[in-house]
Amino acid sequence: MLVLLNAGYEELSREAARIVASAVRSKPNATLGLATGSTTVGMYKELARLHQEQGLDFSRVVTFNLDEYLGLGAEHPQSFHCFMRENFFGDVNVAERNIHIPDGTIGGDYEDYCAAYERAIRDAGGIDLQILGIGRNGHVGFNEPTSSFGSRTRLKVLTNETIDDNRKFFGAGEEMPQCAITMGIGTILEAKKILLLATGEAKAETVAEAIEGPITASVTASCLQLHPDVTFVIDEAAGAQLKQRDYYRRVMEMTARFTPNRLS
Ligand code: GLP
Repeated sequence: MLVLLNAGYEELSREAARIVASAVRSKPNATLGLATGSTTVGMYKELARLHQEQGLDFSRVVTFNLDEYLGLGAEHPQSFHCFMRENFFGDVNVAERNIHIPDGTIGGDYEDYCAAYERAIRDAGGIDLQILGIGRNGHVGFNEPTSSFGSRTRLKVLTNETIDDNRKFFGAGEEMPQCAITMGIGTILEAKKILLLATGEAKAETVAEAIEGPITASVTASCLQLHPDVTFVIDEAAGAQLKQRDYYRRVMEMTARFTPNRLS
C-alpha cells in the first residue's frame, strides 16, 4: 500500500491524473474502473487537459463505472451517466461503445443484469486500474457498511447517512433514490491496481480507519488492505488523522528515489 500525501486538492487531482495517464500511455487499450463524486472532478479535469494539450489518447480505453442510482435515467441531471458526460466523457475521446455504466432503469430482473455487467468486465480482460472515492461512512462504490468482501455487482440499499450526504446534489423536494446498483467489494478487489482519492477534513476519520484500522465490513474501504497494489492519493486534510503520516512521507521520498516506476 502506498499513501501519497499531497498539499491540497489541486495537487492530489494532478497526481491521480498523472497515474491514470501513465497507465493509459503504457497500455492504450487499458480497462479503467471509474468513480463519480465531487472528489474525482479535479482528476477528470486534468485528464481532459492532458488529452487536449498533450494528445493523451483514450480512443482504445474501455471504461466501467462503479455504480448508478436505481431509477435515474441517463438524462437525469443527478445520474452518474450525466456526471460522467459532464465531467469526463464530453471532454475526451473515449469511444461510446467502450463506455459501461450500470443502467438504473431496466426494471425487472437486476440479478441477470448485474451478472451480465460482471461478465462484461471479465470479457474486457478485467479492470487494469480502478479509481475510487470514499464515502464518509467508509464506503467504496455504494458498498455500504456490512457489505460482504465477497460481494459482486448488485442492488444495494443506501444508508441514511449516504442519502443525507448526497442530498445536496438534488433539488429541494426532489425525491432521493434509496437504492443503487454497485460493483461489489469482490469485483473491486479483482482490479489489478487501485487508486483511492480523498480530500478534506470531513474524510480524515474514515481515511484513517480505512488505512490503519482493522479490516472490517463496517468500513468497506478497509478491504483495500487486502489488495497488493493500492495507492491512496489524499491531501493533508484527509490524512490528518493518520498515525503513520511521517512514515508515509519517508516512503514517498524513498520510492521517488529508488523505485520511481512504483509511482507511475
Ligand atoms: C458516492 C459514490 C462513491 C463516492 C462517494 C464520495 O457515494 N457512490 O463512489 O466515493 O460518493 O463522494 P464525494 O467525492 O462527493 O465525497
